[in-house]
Amino acid sequence: MNVLEWTGDELLILDQTRLPQSEEVLRCRELDQVCEAIRNLSIRGAPSLGVTAAYAVLLGARNLGATDEGSLLCGVDAVCEQVRSTRPTAVNLFWAAEEMRGAARRSEGAGVEGILASMEDRAKAIESDNEERHRVLCEFGAAVIPDGASVLHHCETGPLATIDYGSALGVLHEAHLQGKRIHVFVDETRPLLQGARLTAWELASWGVPYTLITDNMAGHFMSRGKIDMAIVGADRIAANGDTANKIGTYSAAVLAKHHGIPFYVAAPFTTIDFDTPAGSGIEIEERRGDEVRGFRGFLWADADASVANPAFDVTPAELIAGIVTEAGVARPPYRESLQRLRSPAVPVA
Ligand code: MRU
Repeated sequence: MNVLEWTGDELLILDQTRLPQSEEVLRCRELDQVCEAIRNLSIRGAPSLGVTAAYAVLLGARNLGATDEGSLLCGVDAVCEQVRSTRPTAVNLFWAAEEMRGAARRSEGAGVEGILASMEDRAKAIESDNEERHRVLCEFGAAVIPDGASVLHHCETGPLATIDYGSALGVLHEAHLQGKRIHVFVDETRPLLQGARLTAWELASWGVPYTLITDNMAGHFMSRGKIDMAIVGADRIAANGDTANKIGTYSAAVLAKHHGIPFYVAAPFTTIDFDTPAGSGIEIEERRGDEVRGFRGFLWADADASVANPAFDVTPAELIAGIVTEAGVARPPYRESLQRLRSPAVPVA
């Protein structure tokens, strides 16, 4: 089943909040529906959010019903703003919205239909470009996974989070396809259980051996020599390599450092924010308290229990052994290595 599909007039989204118990598709004909699907994590994961944002802008632009270029371009700005306001941390979403705005601006003079056609081409190009980036990234990443490795993974970074292939999980899948005998320790990833619900489901479908653990068990298994390395994805990587990813990533990286275990990040260049010098500049999404008080409507804490719910944390670059990208594996110091890999400029489509 497709994670996301543009049919030409609607956006079909596999509802990840229902997985793995049921596979339900949301048929979105309105921008508001797509924005809601992003906000409630029906579609999630930084690269998937980028591709979704591109189609969301397209859908919103088409629905404006503009009859002249001026009102279309003005409306596209407002649509982009609405898409940007859904979730603040994954930079792919902002990148894709800006790409779509640029595509509209560049087509000025082509008429309303011409502008919309260029935007549709751009959205499709962002999707296929995203697929190619991850395909290549997985090949580079598989090279850092030793045969026989036992690997810790946090959150979900497979096809659900990237539309195709996956980033960190795609790397592990590729290593498995190459015949490396790997075993994955899957952090359940509180509070929304992306690891337990989604990653374990994907690994099972690929036949990759795994063990599901609660997040607070990782240190125990590291101390017993059961984990050789860790690999995670990213929602935004600052220019110096500081990496925002799902809450709990930082704790796993600190534990890995303490135990001398290499900790890798895998992400495409669309996740690297060269305009943000360091992780302290990354906005961290704060989500509803009920996500911590319980799950899927069942509350195990008091309904009025005081809660904090940051969705992401920042892992400092000094804890990261390497950043796997579609241009190769960057090593510290990242300010230099990421720039080096970035140029000559990675084509965006
Ligand atoms: O809140 P989510 O589920 O969108 O968070 C997703 C993550 O933190 C992923 O690890 C990250 O986006 C990388 S996906 C390849």
